[in-house]
Amino acid sequence: MKNILVTGGLGFIGSHTCVELMNSGFNPVILDNLSNSEIWIKDRIEKIANQTVSFYNGDCRDEQLLDTIFSNESIHGIIHFAASKAVGESVLEPLKYYNNNLGGLTSILEASKKHNCLNLVFSSSCTVYGTPDSLPVDESAKIKTAESPYGTTKIVCERIIQDLSIADSTFKSILLRYFNPIGAHETSLIGELPLGVPSNLVPFITQTAAGHRNSLTVFGDDYNTKDGSCVRDFIHVTDLAKAHIKALEFLLNKNEGICETVNIGTGNGNTVLELINAFEKVSGKKLNYSIGDRRSGDVEAVYADASKSKELLGWEAVISLEQALLDAWNWQQSLEVN
Ligand code: WQD
Repeated sequence: MKNILVTGGLGFIGSHTCVELMNSGFNPVILDNLSNSEIWIKDRIEKIANQTVSFYNGDCRDEQLLDTIFSNESIHGIIHFAASKAVGESVLEPLKYYNNNLGGLTSILEASKKHNCLNLVFSSSCTVYGTPDSLPVDESAKIKTAESPYGTTKIVCERIIQDLSIADSTFKSILLRYFNPIGAHETSLIGELPLGVPSNLVPFITQTAAGHRNSLTVFGDDYNTKDGSCVRDFIHVTDLAKAHIKALEFLLNKNEGICETVNIGTGNGNTVLELINAFEKVSGKKLNYSIGDRRSGDVEAVYADASKSKELLGWEAVISLEQALLDAWNWQQSLEVN
């Protein structure tokens, strides 16, 4: 069984990816510093997969720890999730973001070269497109100046990996540009655990429906879209997790160096108001919401041209928006009883 180092493996996307790795016969080795995750998620991953996982509590910037992991475990590939990801916080604490996100990546890359582990799947984001010149947006679209230090770290991290690929023709990597991940595992054993007041839409909706928040504010209904609210490409986290397995298998089957960027989205755009309606339908709950001002930095509309993922990796999203919202709601309800 091939060991795969999963940094940030107890986070939202990381935990779902660990489950899918095990479903596909890989053995995840998790490195997570618990800065935005909970240790009990490890037990949940093990419960779903009915298998134990190796876990290292620590930071990607800890070179000694990386040496220990690469020496103890025979690592065949790396999926690098670990990063700070709150857009608003990144504006207030830019150095934290540059240090953690850039430092974490360069440290992982140094270790991977030192230990001759040349397969890397990296978590990037559609944020690199900013406001795209045309929609759906494909991978050849222009990279825009980011609206936040968080966004800048994703652009720079992509560039670091691309530069390494130029310098080392044996290095193999796939940069996955995620659109908007939502939902939770179908078992309701793992899901998103936002710290404090959620800034992302779906956790805010489920917490409002559960009574933890009074009301959701829709940030703007005067955009140039069909109902005036922003358009996003919402993708189920399980679909997204499965894309990582396809990307990893693609790299493991390649004999020469490669560096590809791939959109991971559904190819469909939905407005914020459409999402709220769909949530009300599947949950049977009336959501308390009002229309507010636009949020600064928000892109009017973005959704993926999802053809490259299908052609290159043989992956496409299959889970519906309704199912994703139902899974998110079931997960929220499971948190109420625990
Ligand atoms: C979606 C839509 C909001 C909350 C961000 C990052 C991105 C990625 C995912 C990281 C927008 C609207 C939201 C609310 C609202 N990265 N909204 N009321 O901004 O598309 O993407 O998260 O982890 O890089 O930029 O996602 O979920 O915050 O917002 O009306 O209370 O919902 O205006 O149109 P976003 P989001």
